[in-house]
Amino acid sequence: MEKEMIIVLDFGGQYNQLIARRVRECNVYCEVHPYNLSLEKIKEINPKGIIFTGGPNSVYAEESLRCGMEIFEMGIPILGICYGSQLISYLFGGSVKTAPVSEYGKTEIIIDNKSVLFKNVSKKTIGWMSHTDYIEKPPEGFQITAHTSECPVAGMENVERKIYAVQFHPEVMHTLEGMKMLSNFVYDICGCNGDWKMDSFVETSIQEIRKKVGNGKVLCALSGGVDSSVAAVMLAKAVGKQLTCVFVDHGLLRKNEGDEVEAVFGPNGPYDLNFIRVNAGERYFKKLAGVEEPEKKRKIIGEEFIRVFEEEAKKIGTVDFLVQGTIYPDVIESGLGKSAVIKSHHNVGGLPDYVDFKEIIEPLRLLFKDEVRLAGLELGIPDYLVYRQPFPGPGLGIRIVGEVTPEKVAIVQEADFIYREEIAKAGLDKELGQYFAGLTNMRSVGVMGDERTYDYAVALRAVNTSDFMTAEAADLPFELLQKVMNRIINEVKGVNRVFYDLTSKPPGTIEFE
Ligand code: XMP
Repeated sequence: MEKEMIIVLDFGGQYNQLIARRVRECNVYCEVHPYNLSLEKIKEINPKGIIFTGGPNSVYAEESLRCGMEIFEMGIPILGICYGSQLISYLFGGSVKTAPVSEYGKTEIIIDNKSVLFKNVSKKTIGWMSHTDYIEKPPEGFQITAHTSECPVAGMENVERKIYAVQFHPEVMHTLEGMKMLSNFVYDICGCNGDWKMDSFVETSIQEIRKKVGNGKVLCALSGGVDSSVAAVMLAKAVGKQLTCVFVDHGLLRKNEGDEVEAVFGPNGPYDLNFIRVNAGERYFKKLAGVEEPEKKRKIIGEEFIRVFEEEAKKIGTVDFLVQGTIYPDVIESGLGKSAVIKSHHNVGGLPDYVDFKEIIEPLRLLFKDEVRLAGLELGIPDYLVYRQPFPGPGLGIRIVGEVTPEKVAIVQEADFIYREEIAKAGLDKELGQYFAGLTNMRSVGVMGDERTYDYAVALRAVNTSDFMTAEAADLPFELLQKVMNRIINEVKGVNRVFYDLTSKPPGTIEFE
């Protein structure tokens, strides 16, 4: 049976993979390809539908990315989003201009007709807008399907040619009925059956890995976090004992974490892996001494990781492949796409120039965190590991603002342990997207037992998020926060103040650095 697929053509928008992921949520396989994918290739893939993404340029600018008209002659349904919609209008002779008022954020969308794309969508709905140009007038043959108070063509269609377009972003969570629209496109317009599931991804990945690796030796960078654990088990299933997992305990892990990871992946655990634990804490603290700048810390931690791996690899003999649990938000936020650099996640942008392996395998590179968890469950990894709190590669190194020292690490480990314990007791551990304690670089005056103190402030963070690209501070019960504050101040030496971080992402990020 031929695999049903929708393809996303990337015109440089920052949500390109998010669109693909939303389509996969509709149980239809979806991949992102460059905007100029050849017609031959498209024919070969034989997609059920094509989605054009947004993009940063104006369609009429000379440097803007465009496709040819031939793609519209293939009879494949097309959905243009944001820039994609303007491009369709431009290519068909409609008028695209700088909008008198650019719209940004949640915007009321008024649906004008009974477009199939908007089947079961409310007449007035909320869409996420982010544009400075707009379609002033649709091309001939196209009907307006939606508008806003500032934007005359928030949606248009040419049913005969199966071309649909929206100015807003249905893929973003803030577009309240966006999933309905994508599902209408995929099912009602493209005629998909929706028989794709995560097990197909896991199975295909395992086969691809086997083919790629052959008889080669593979080294996996295991941090014990969800992503690298899923990558490790996937690799173990694909190539068994050709795989060695190296777990670098960089001294920046949560309390007891090193031993917990060893208990699962080590010789007494359920998996048949080659497992090496390297206790490298001292080495890290030396390198990090006096370093305050977040990006510098990330690069040091990332580079040291690779160095330790290289050393271990040499002991094993020729190692051909390095496996990393990089997931999609790491890739996009490290600025490897066309989006701006937010931070260099250690396992992507932080890679040193010289890496002594033939190739790096990143089997989860296109997945979002919740998709990684589904893949983990598919692979038979136990729930408690799959639903473990996300923990960044650079560990507590980026939860301690400013210089990292063993003393500060000990403070955060204890405070975080207490916080996690209380969150679990309150039954909130599965509900929250991510929660942890960090250490601010602030010291302030307090009084304890009639004595003046001059100690650090711990910051508590808890966010709700599904994709980790946007997040909101969780509304934790005040009594819970007070209890945690009391315990931290009483039980952790060196802390005399506790804050709760209310910042969303954006403008903040989830981690402190
Ligand atoms: P931010 O702080 O960028 O975090 O909003 C988004 C998600 O990514 C995790 N994170 C990292 N994971 N290496 C990782 O493997 C990193 O350098 C890194 N930085 C952030 C973070 O914990 C959150 O889940």
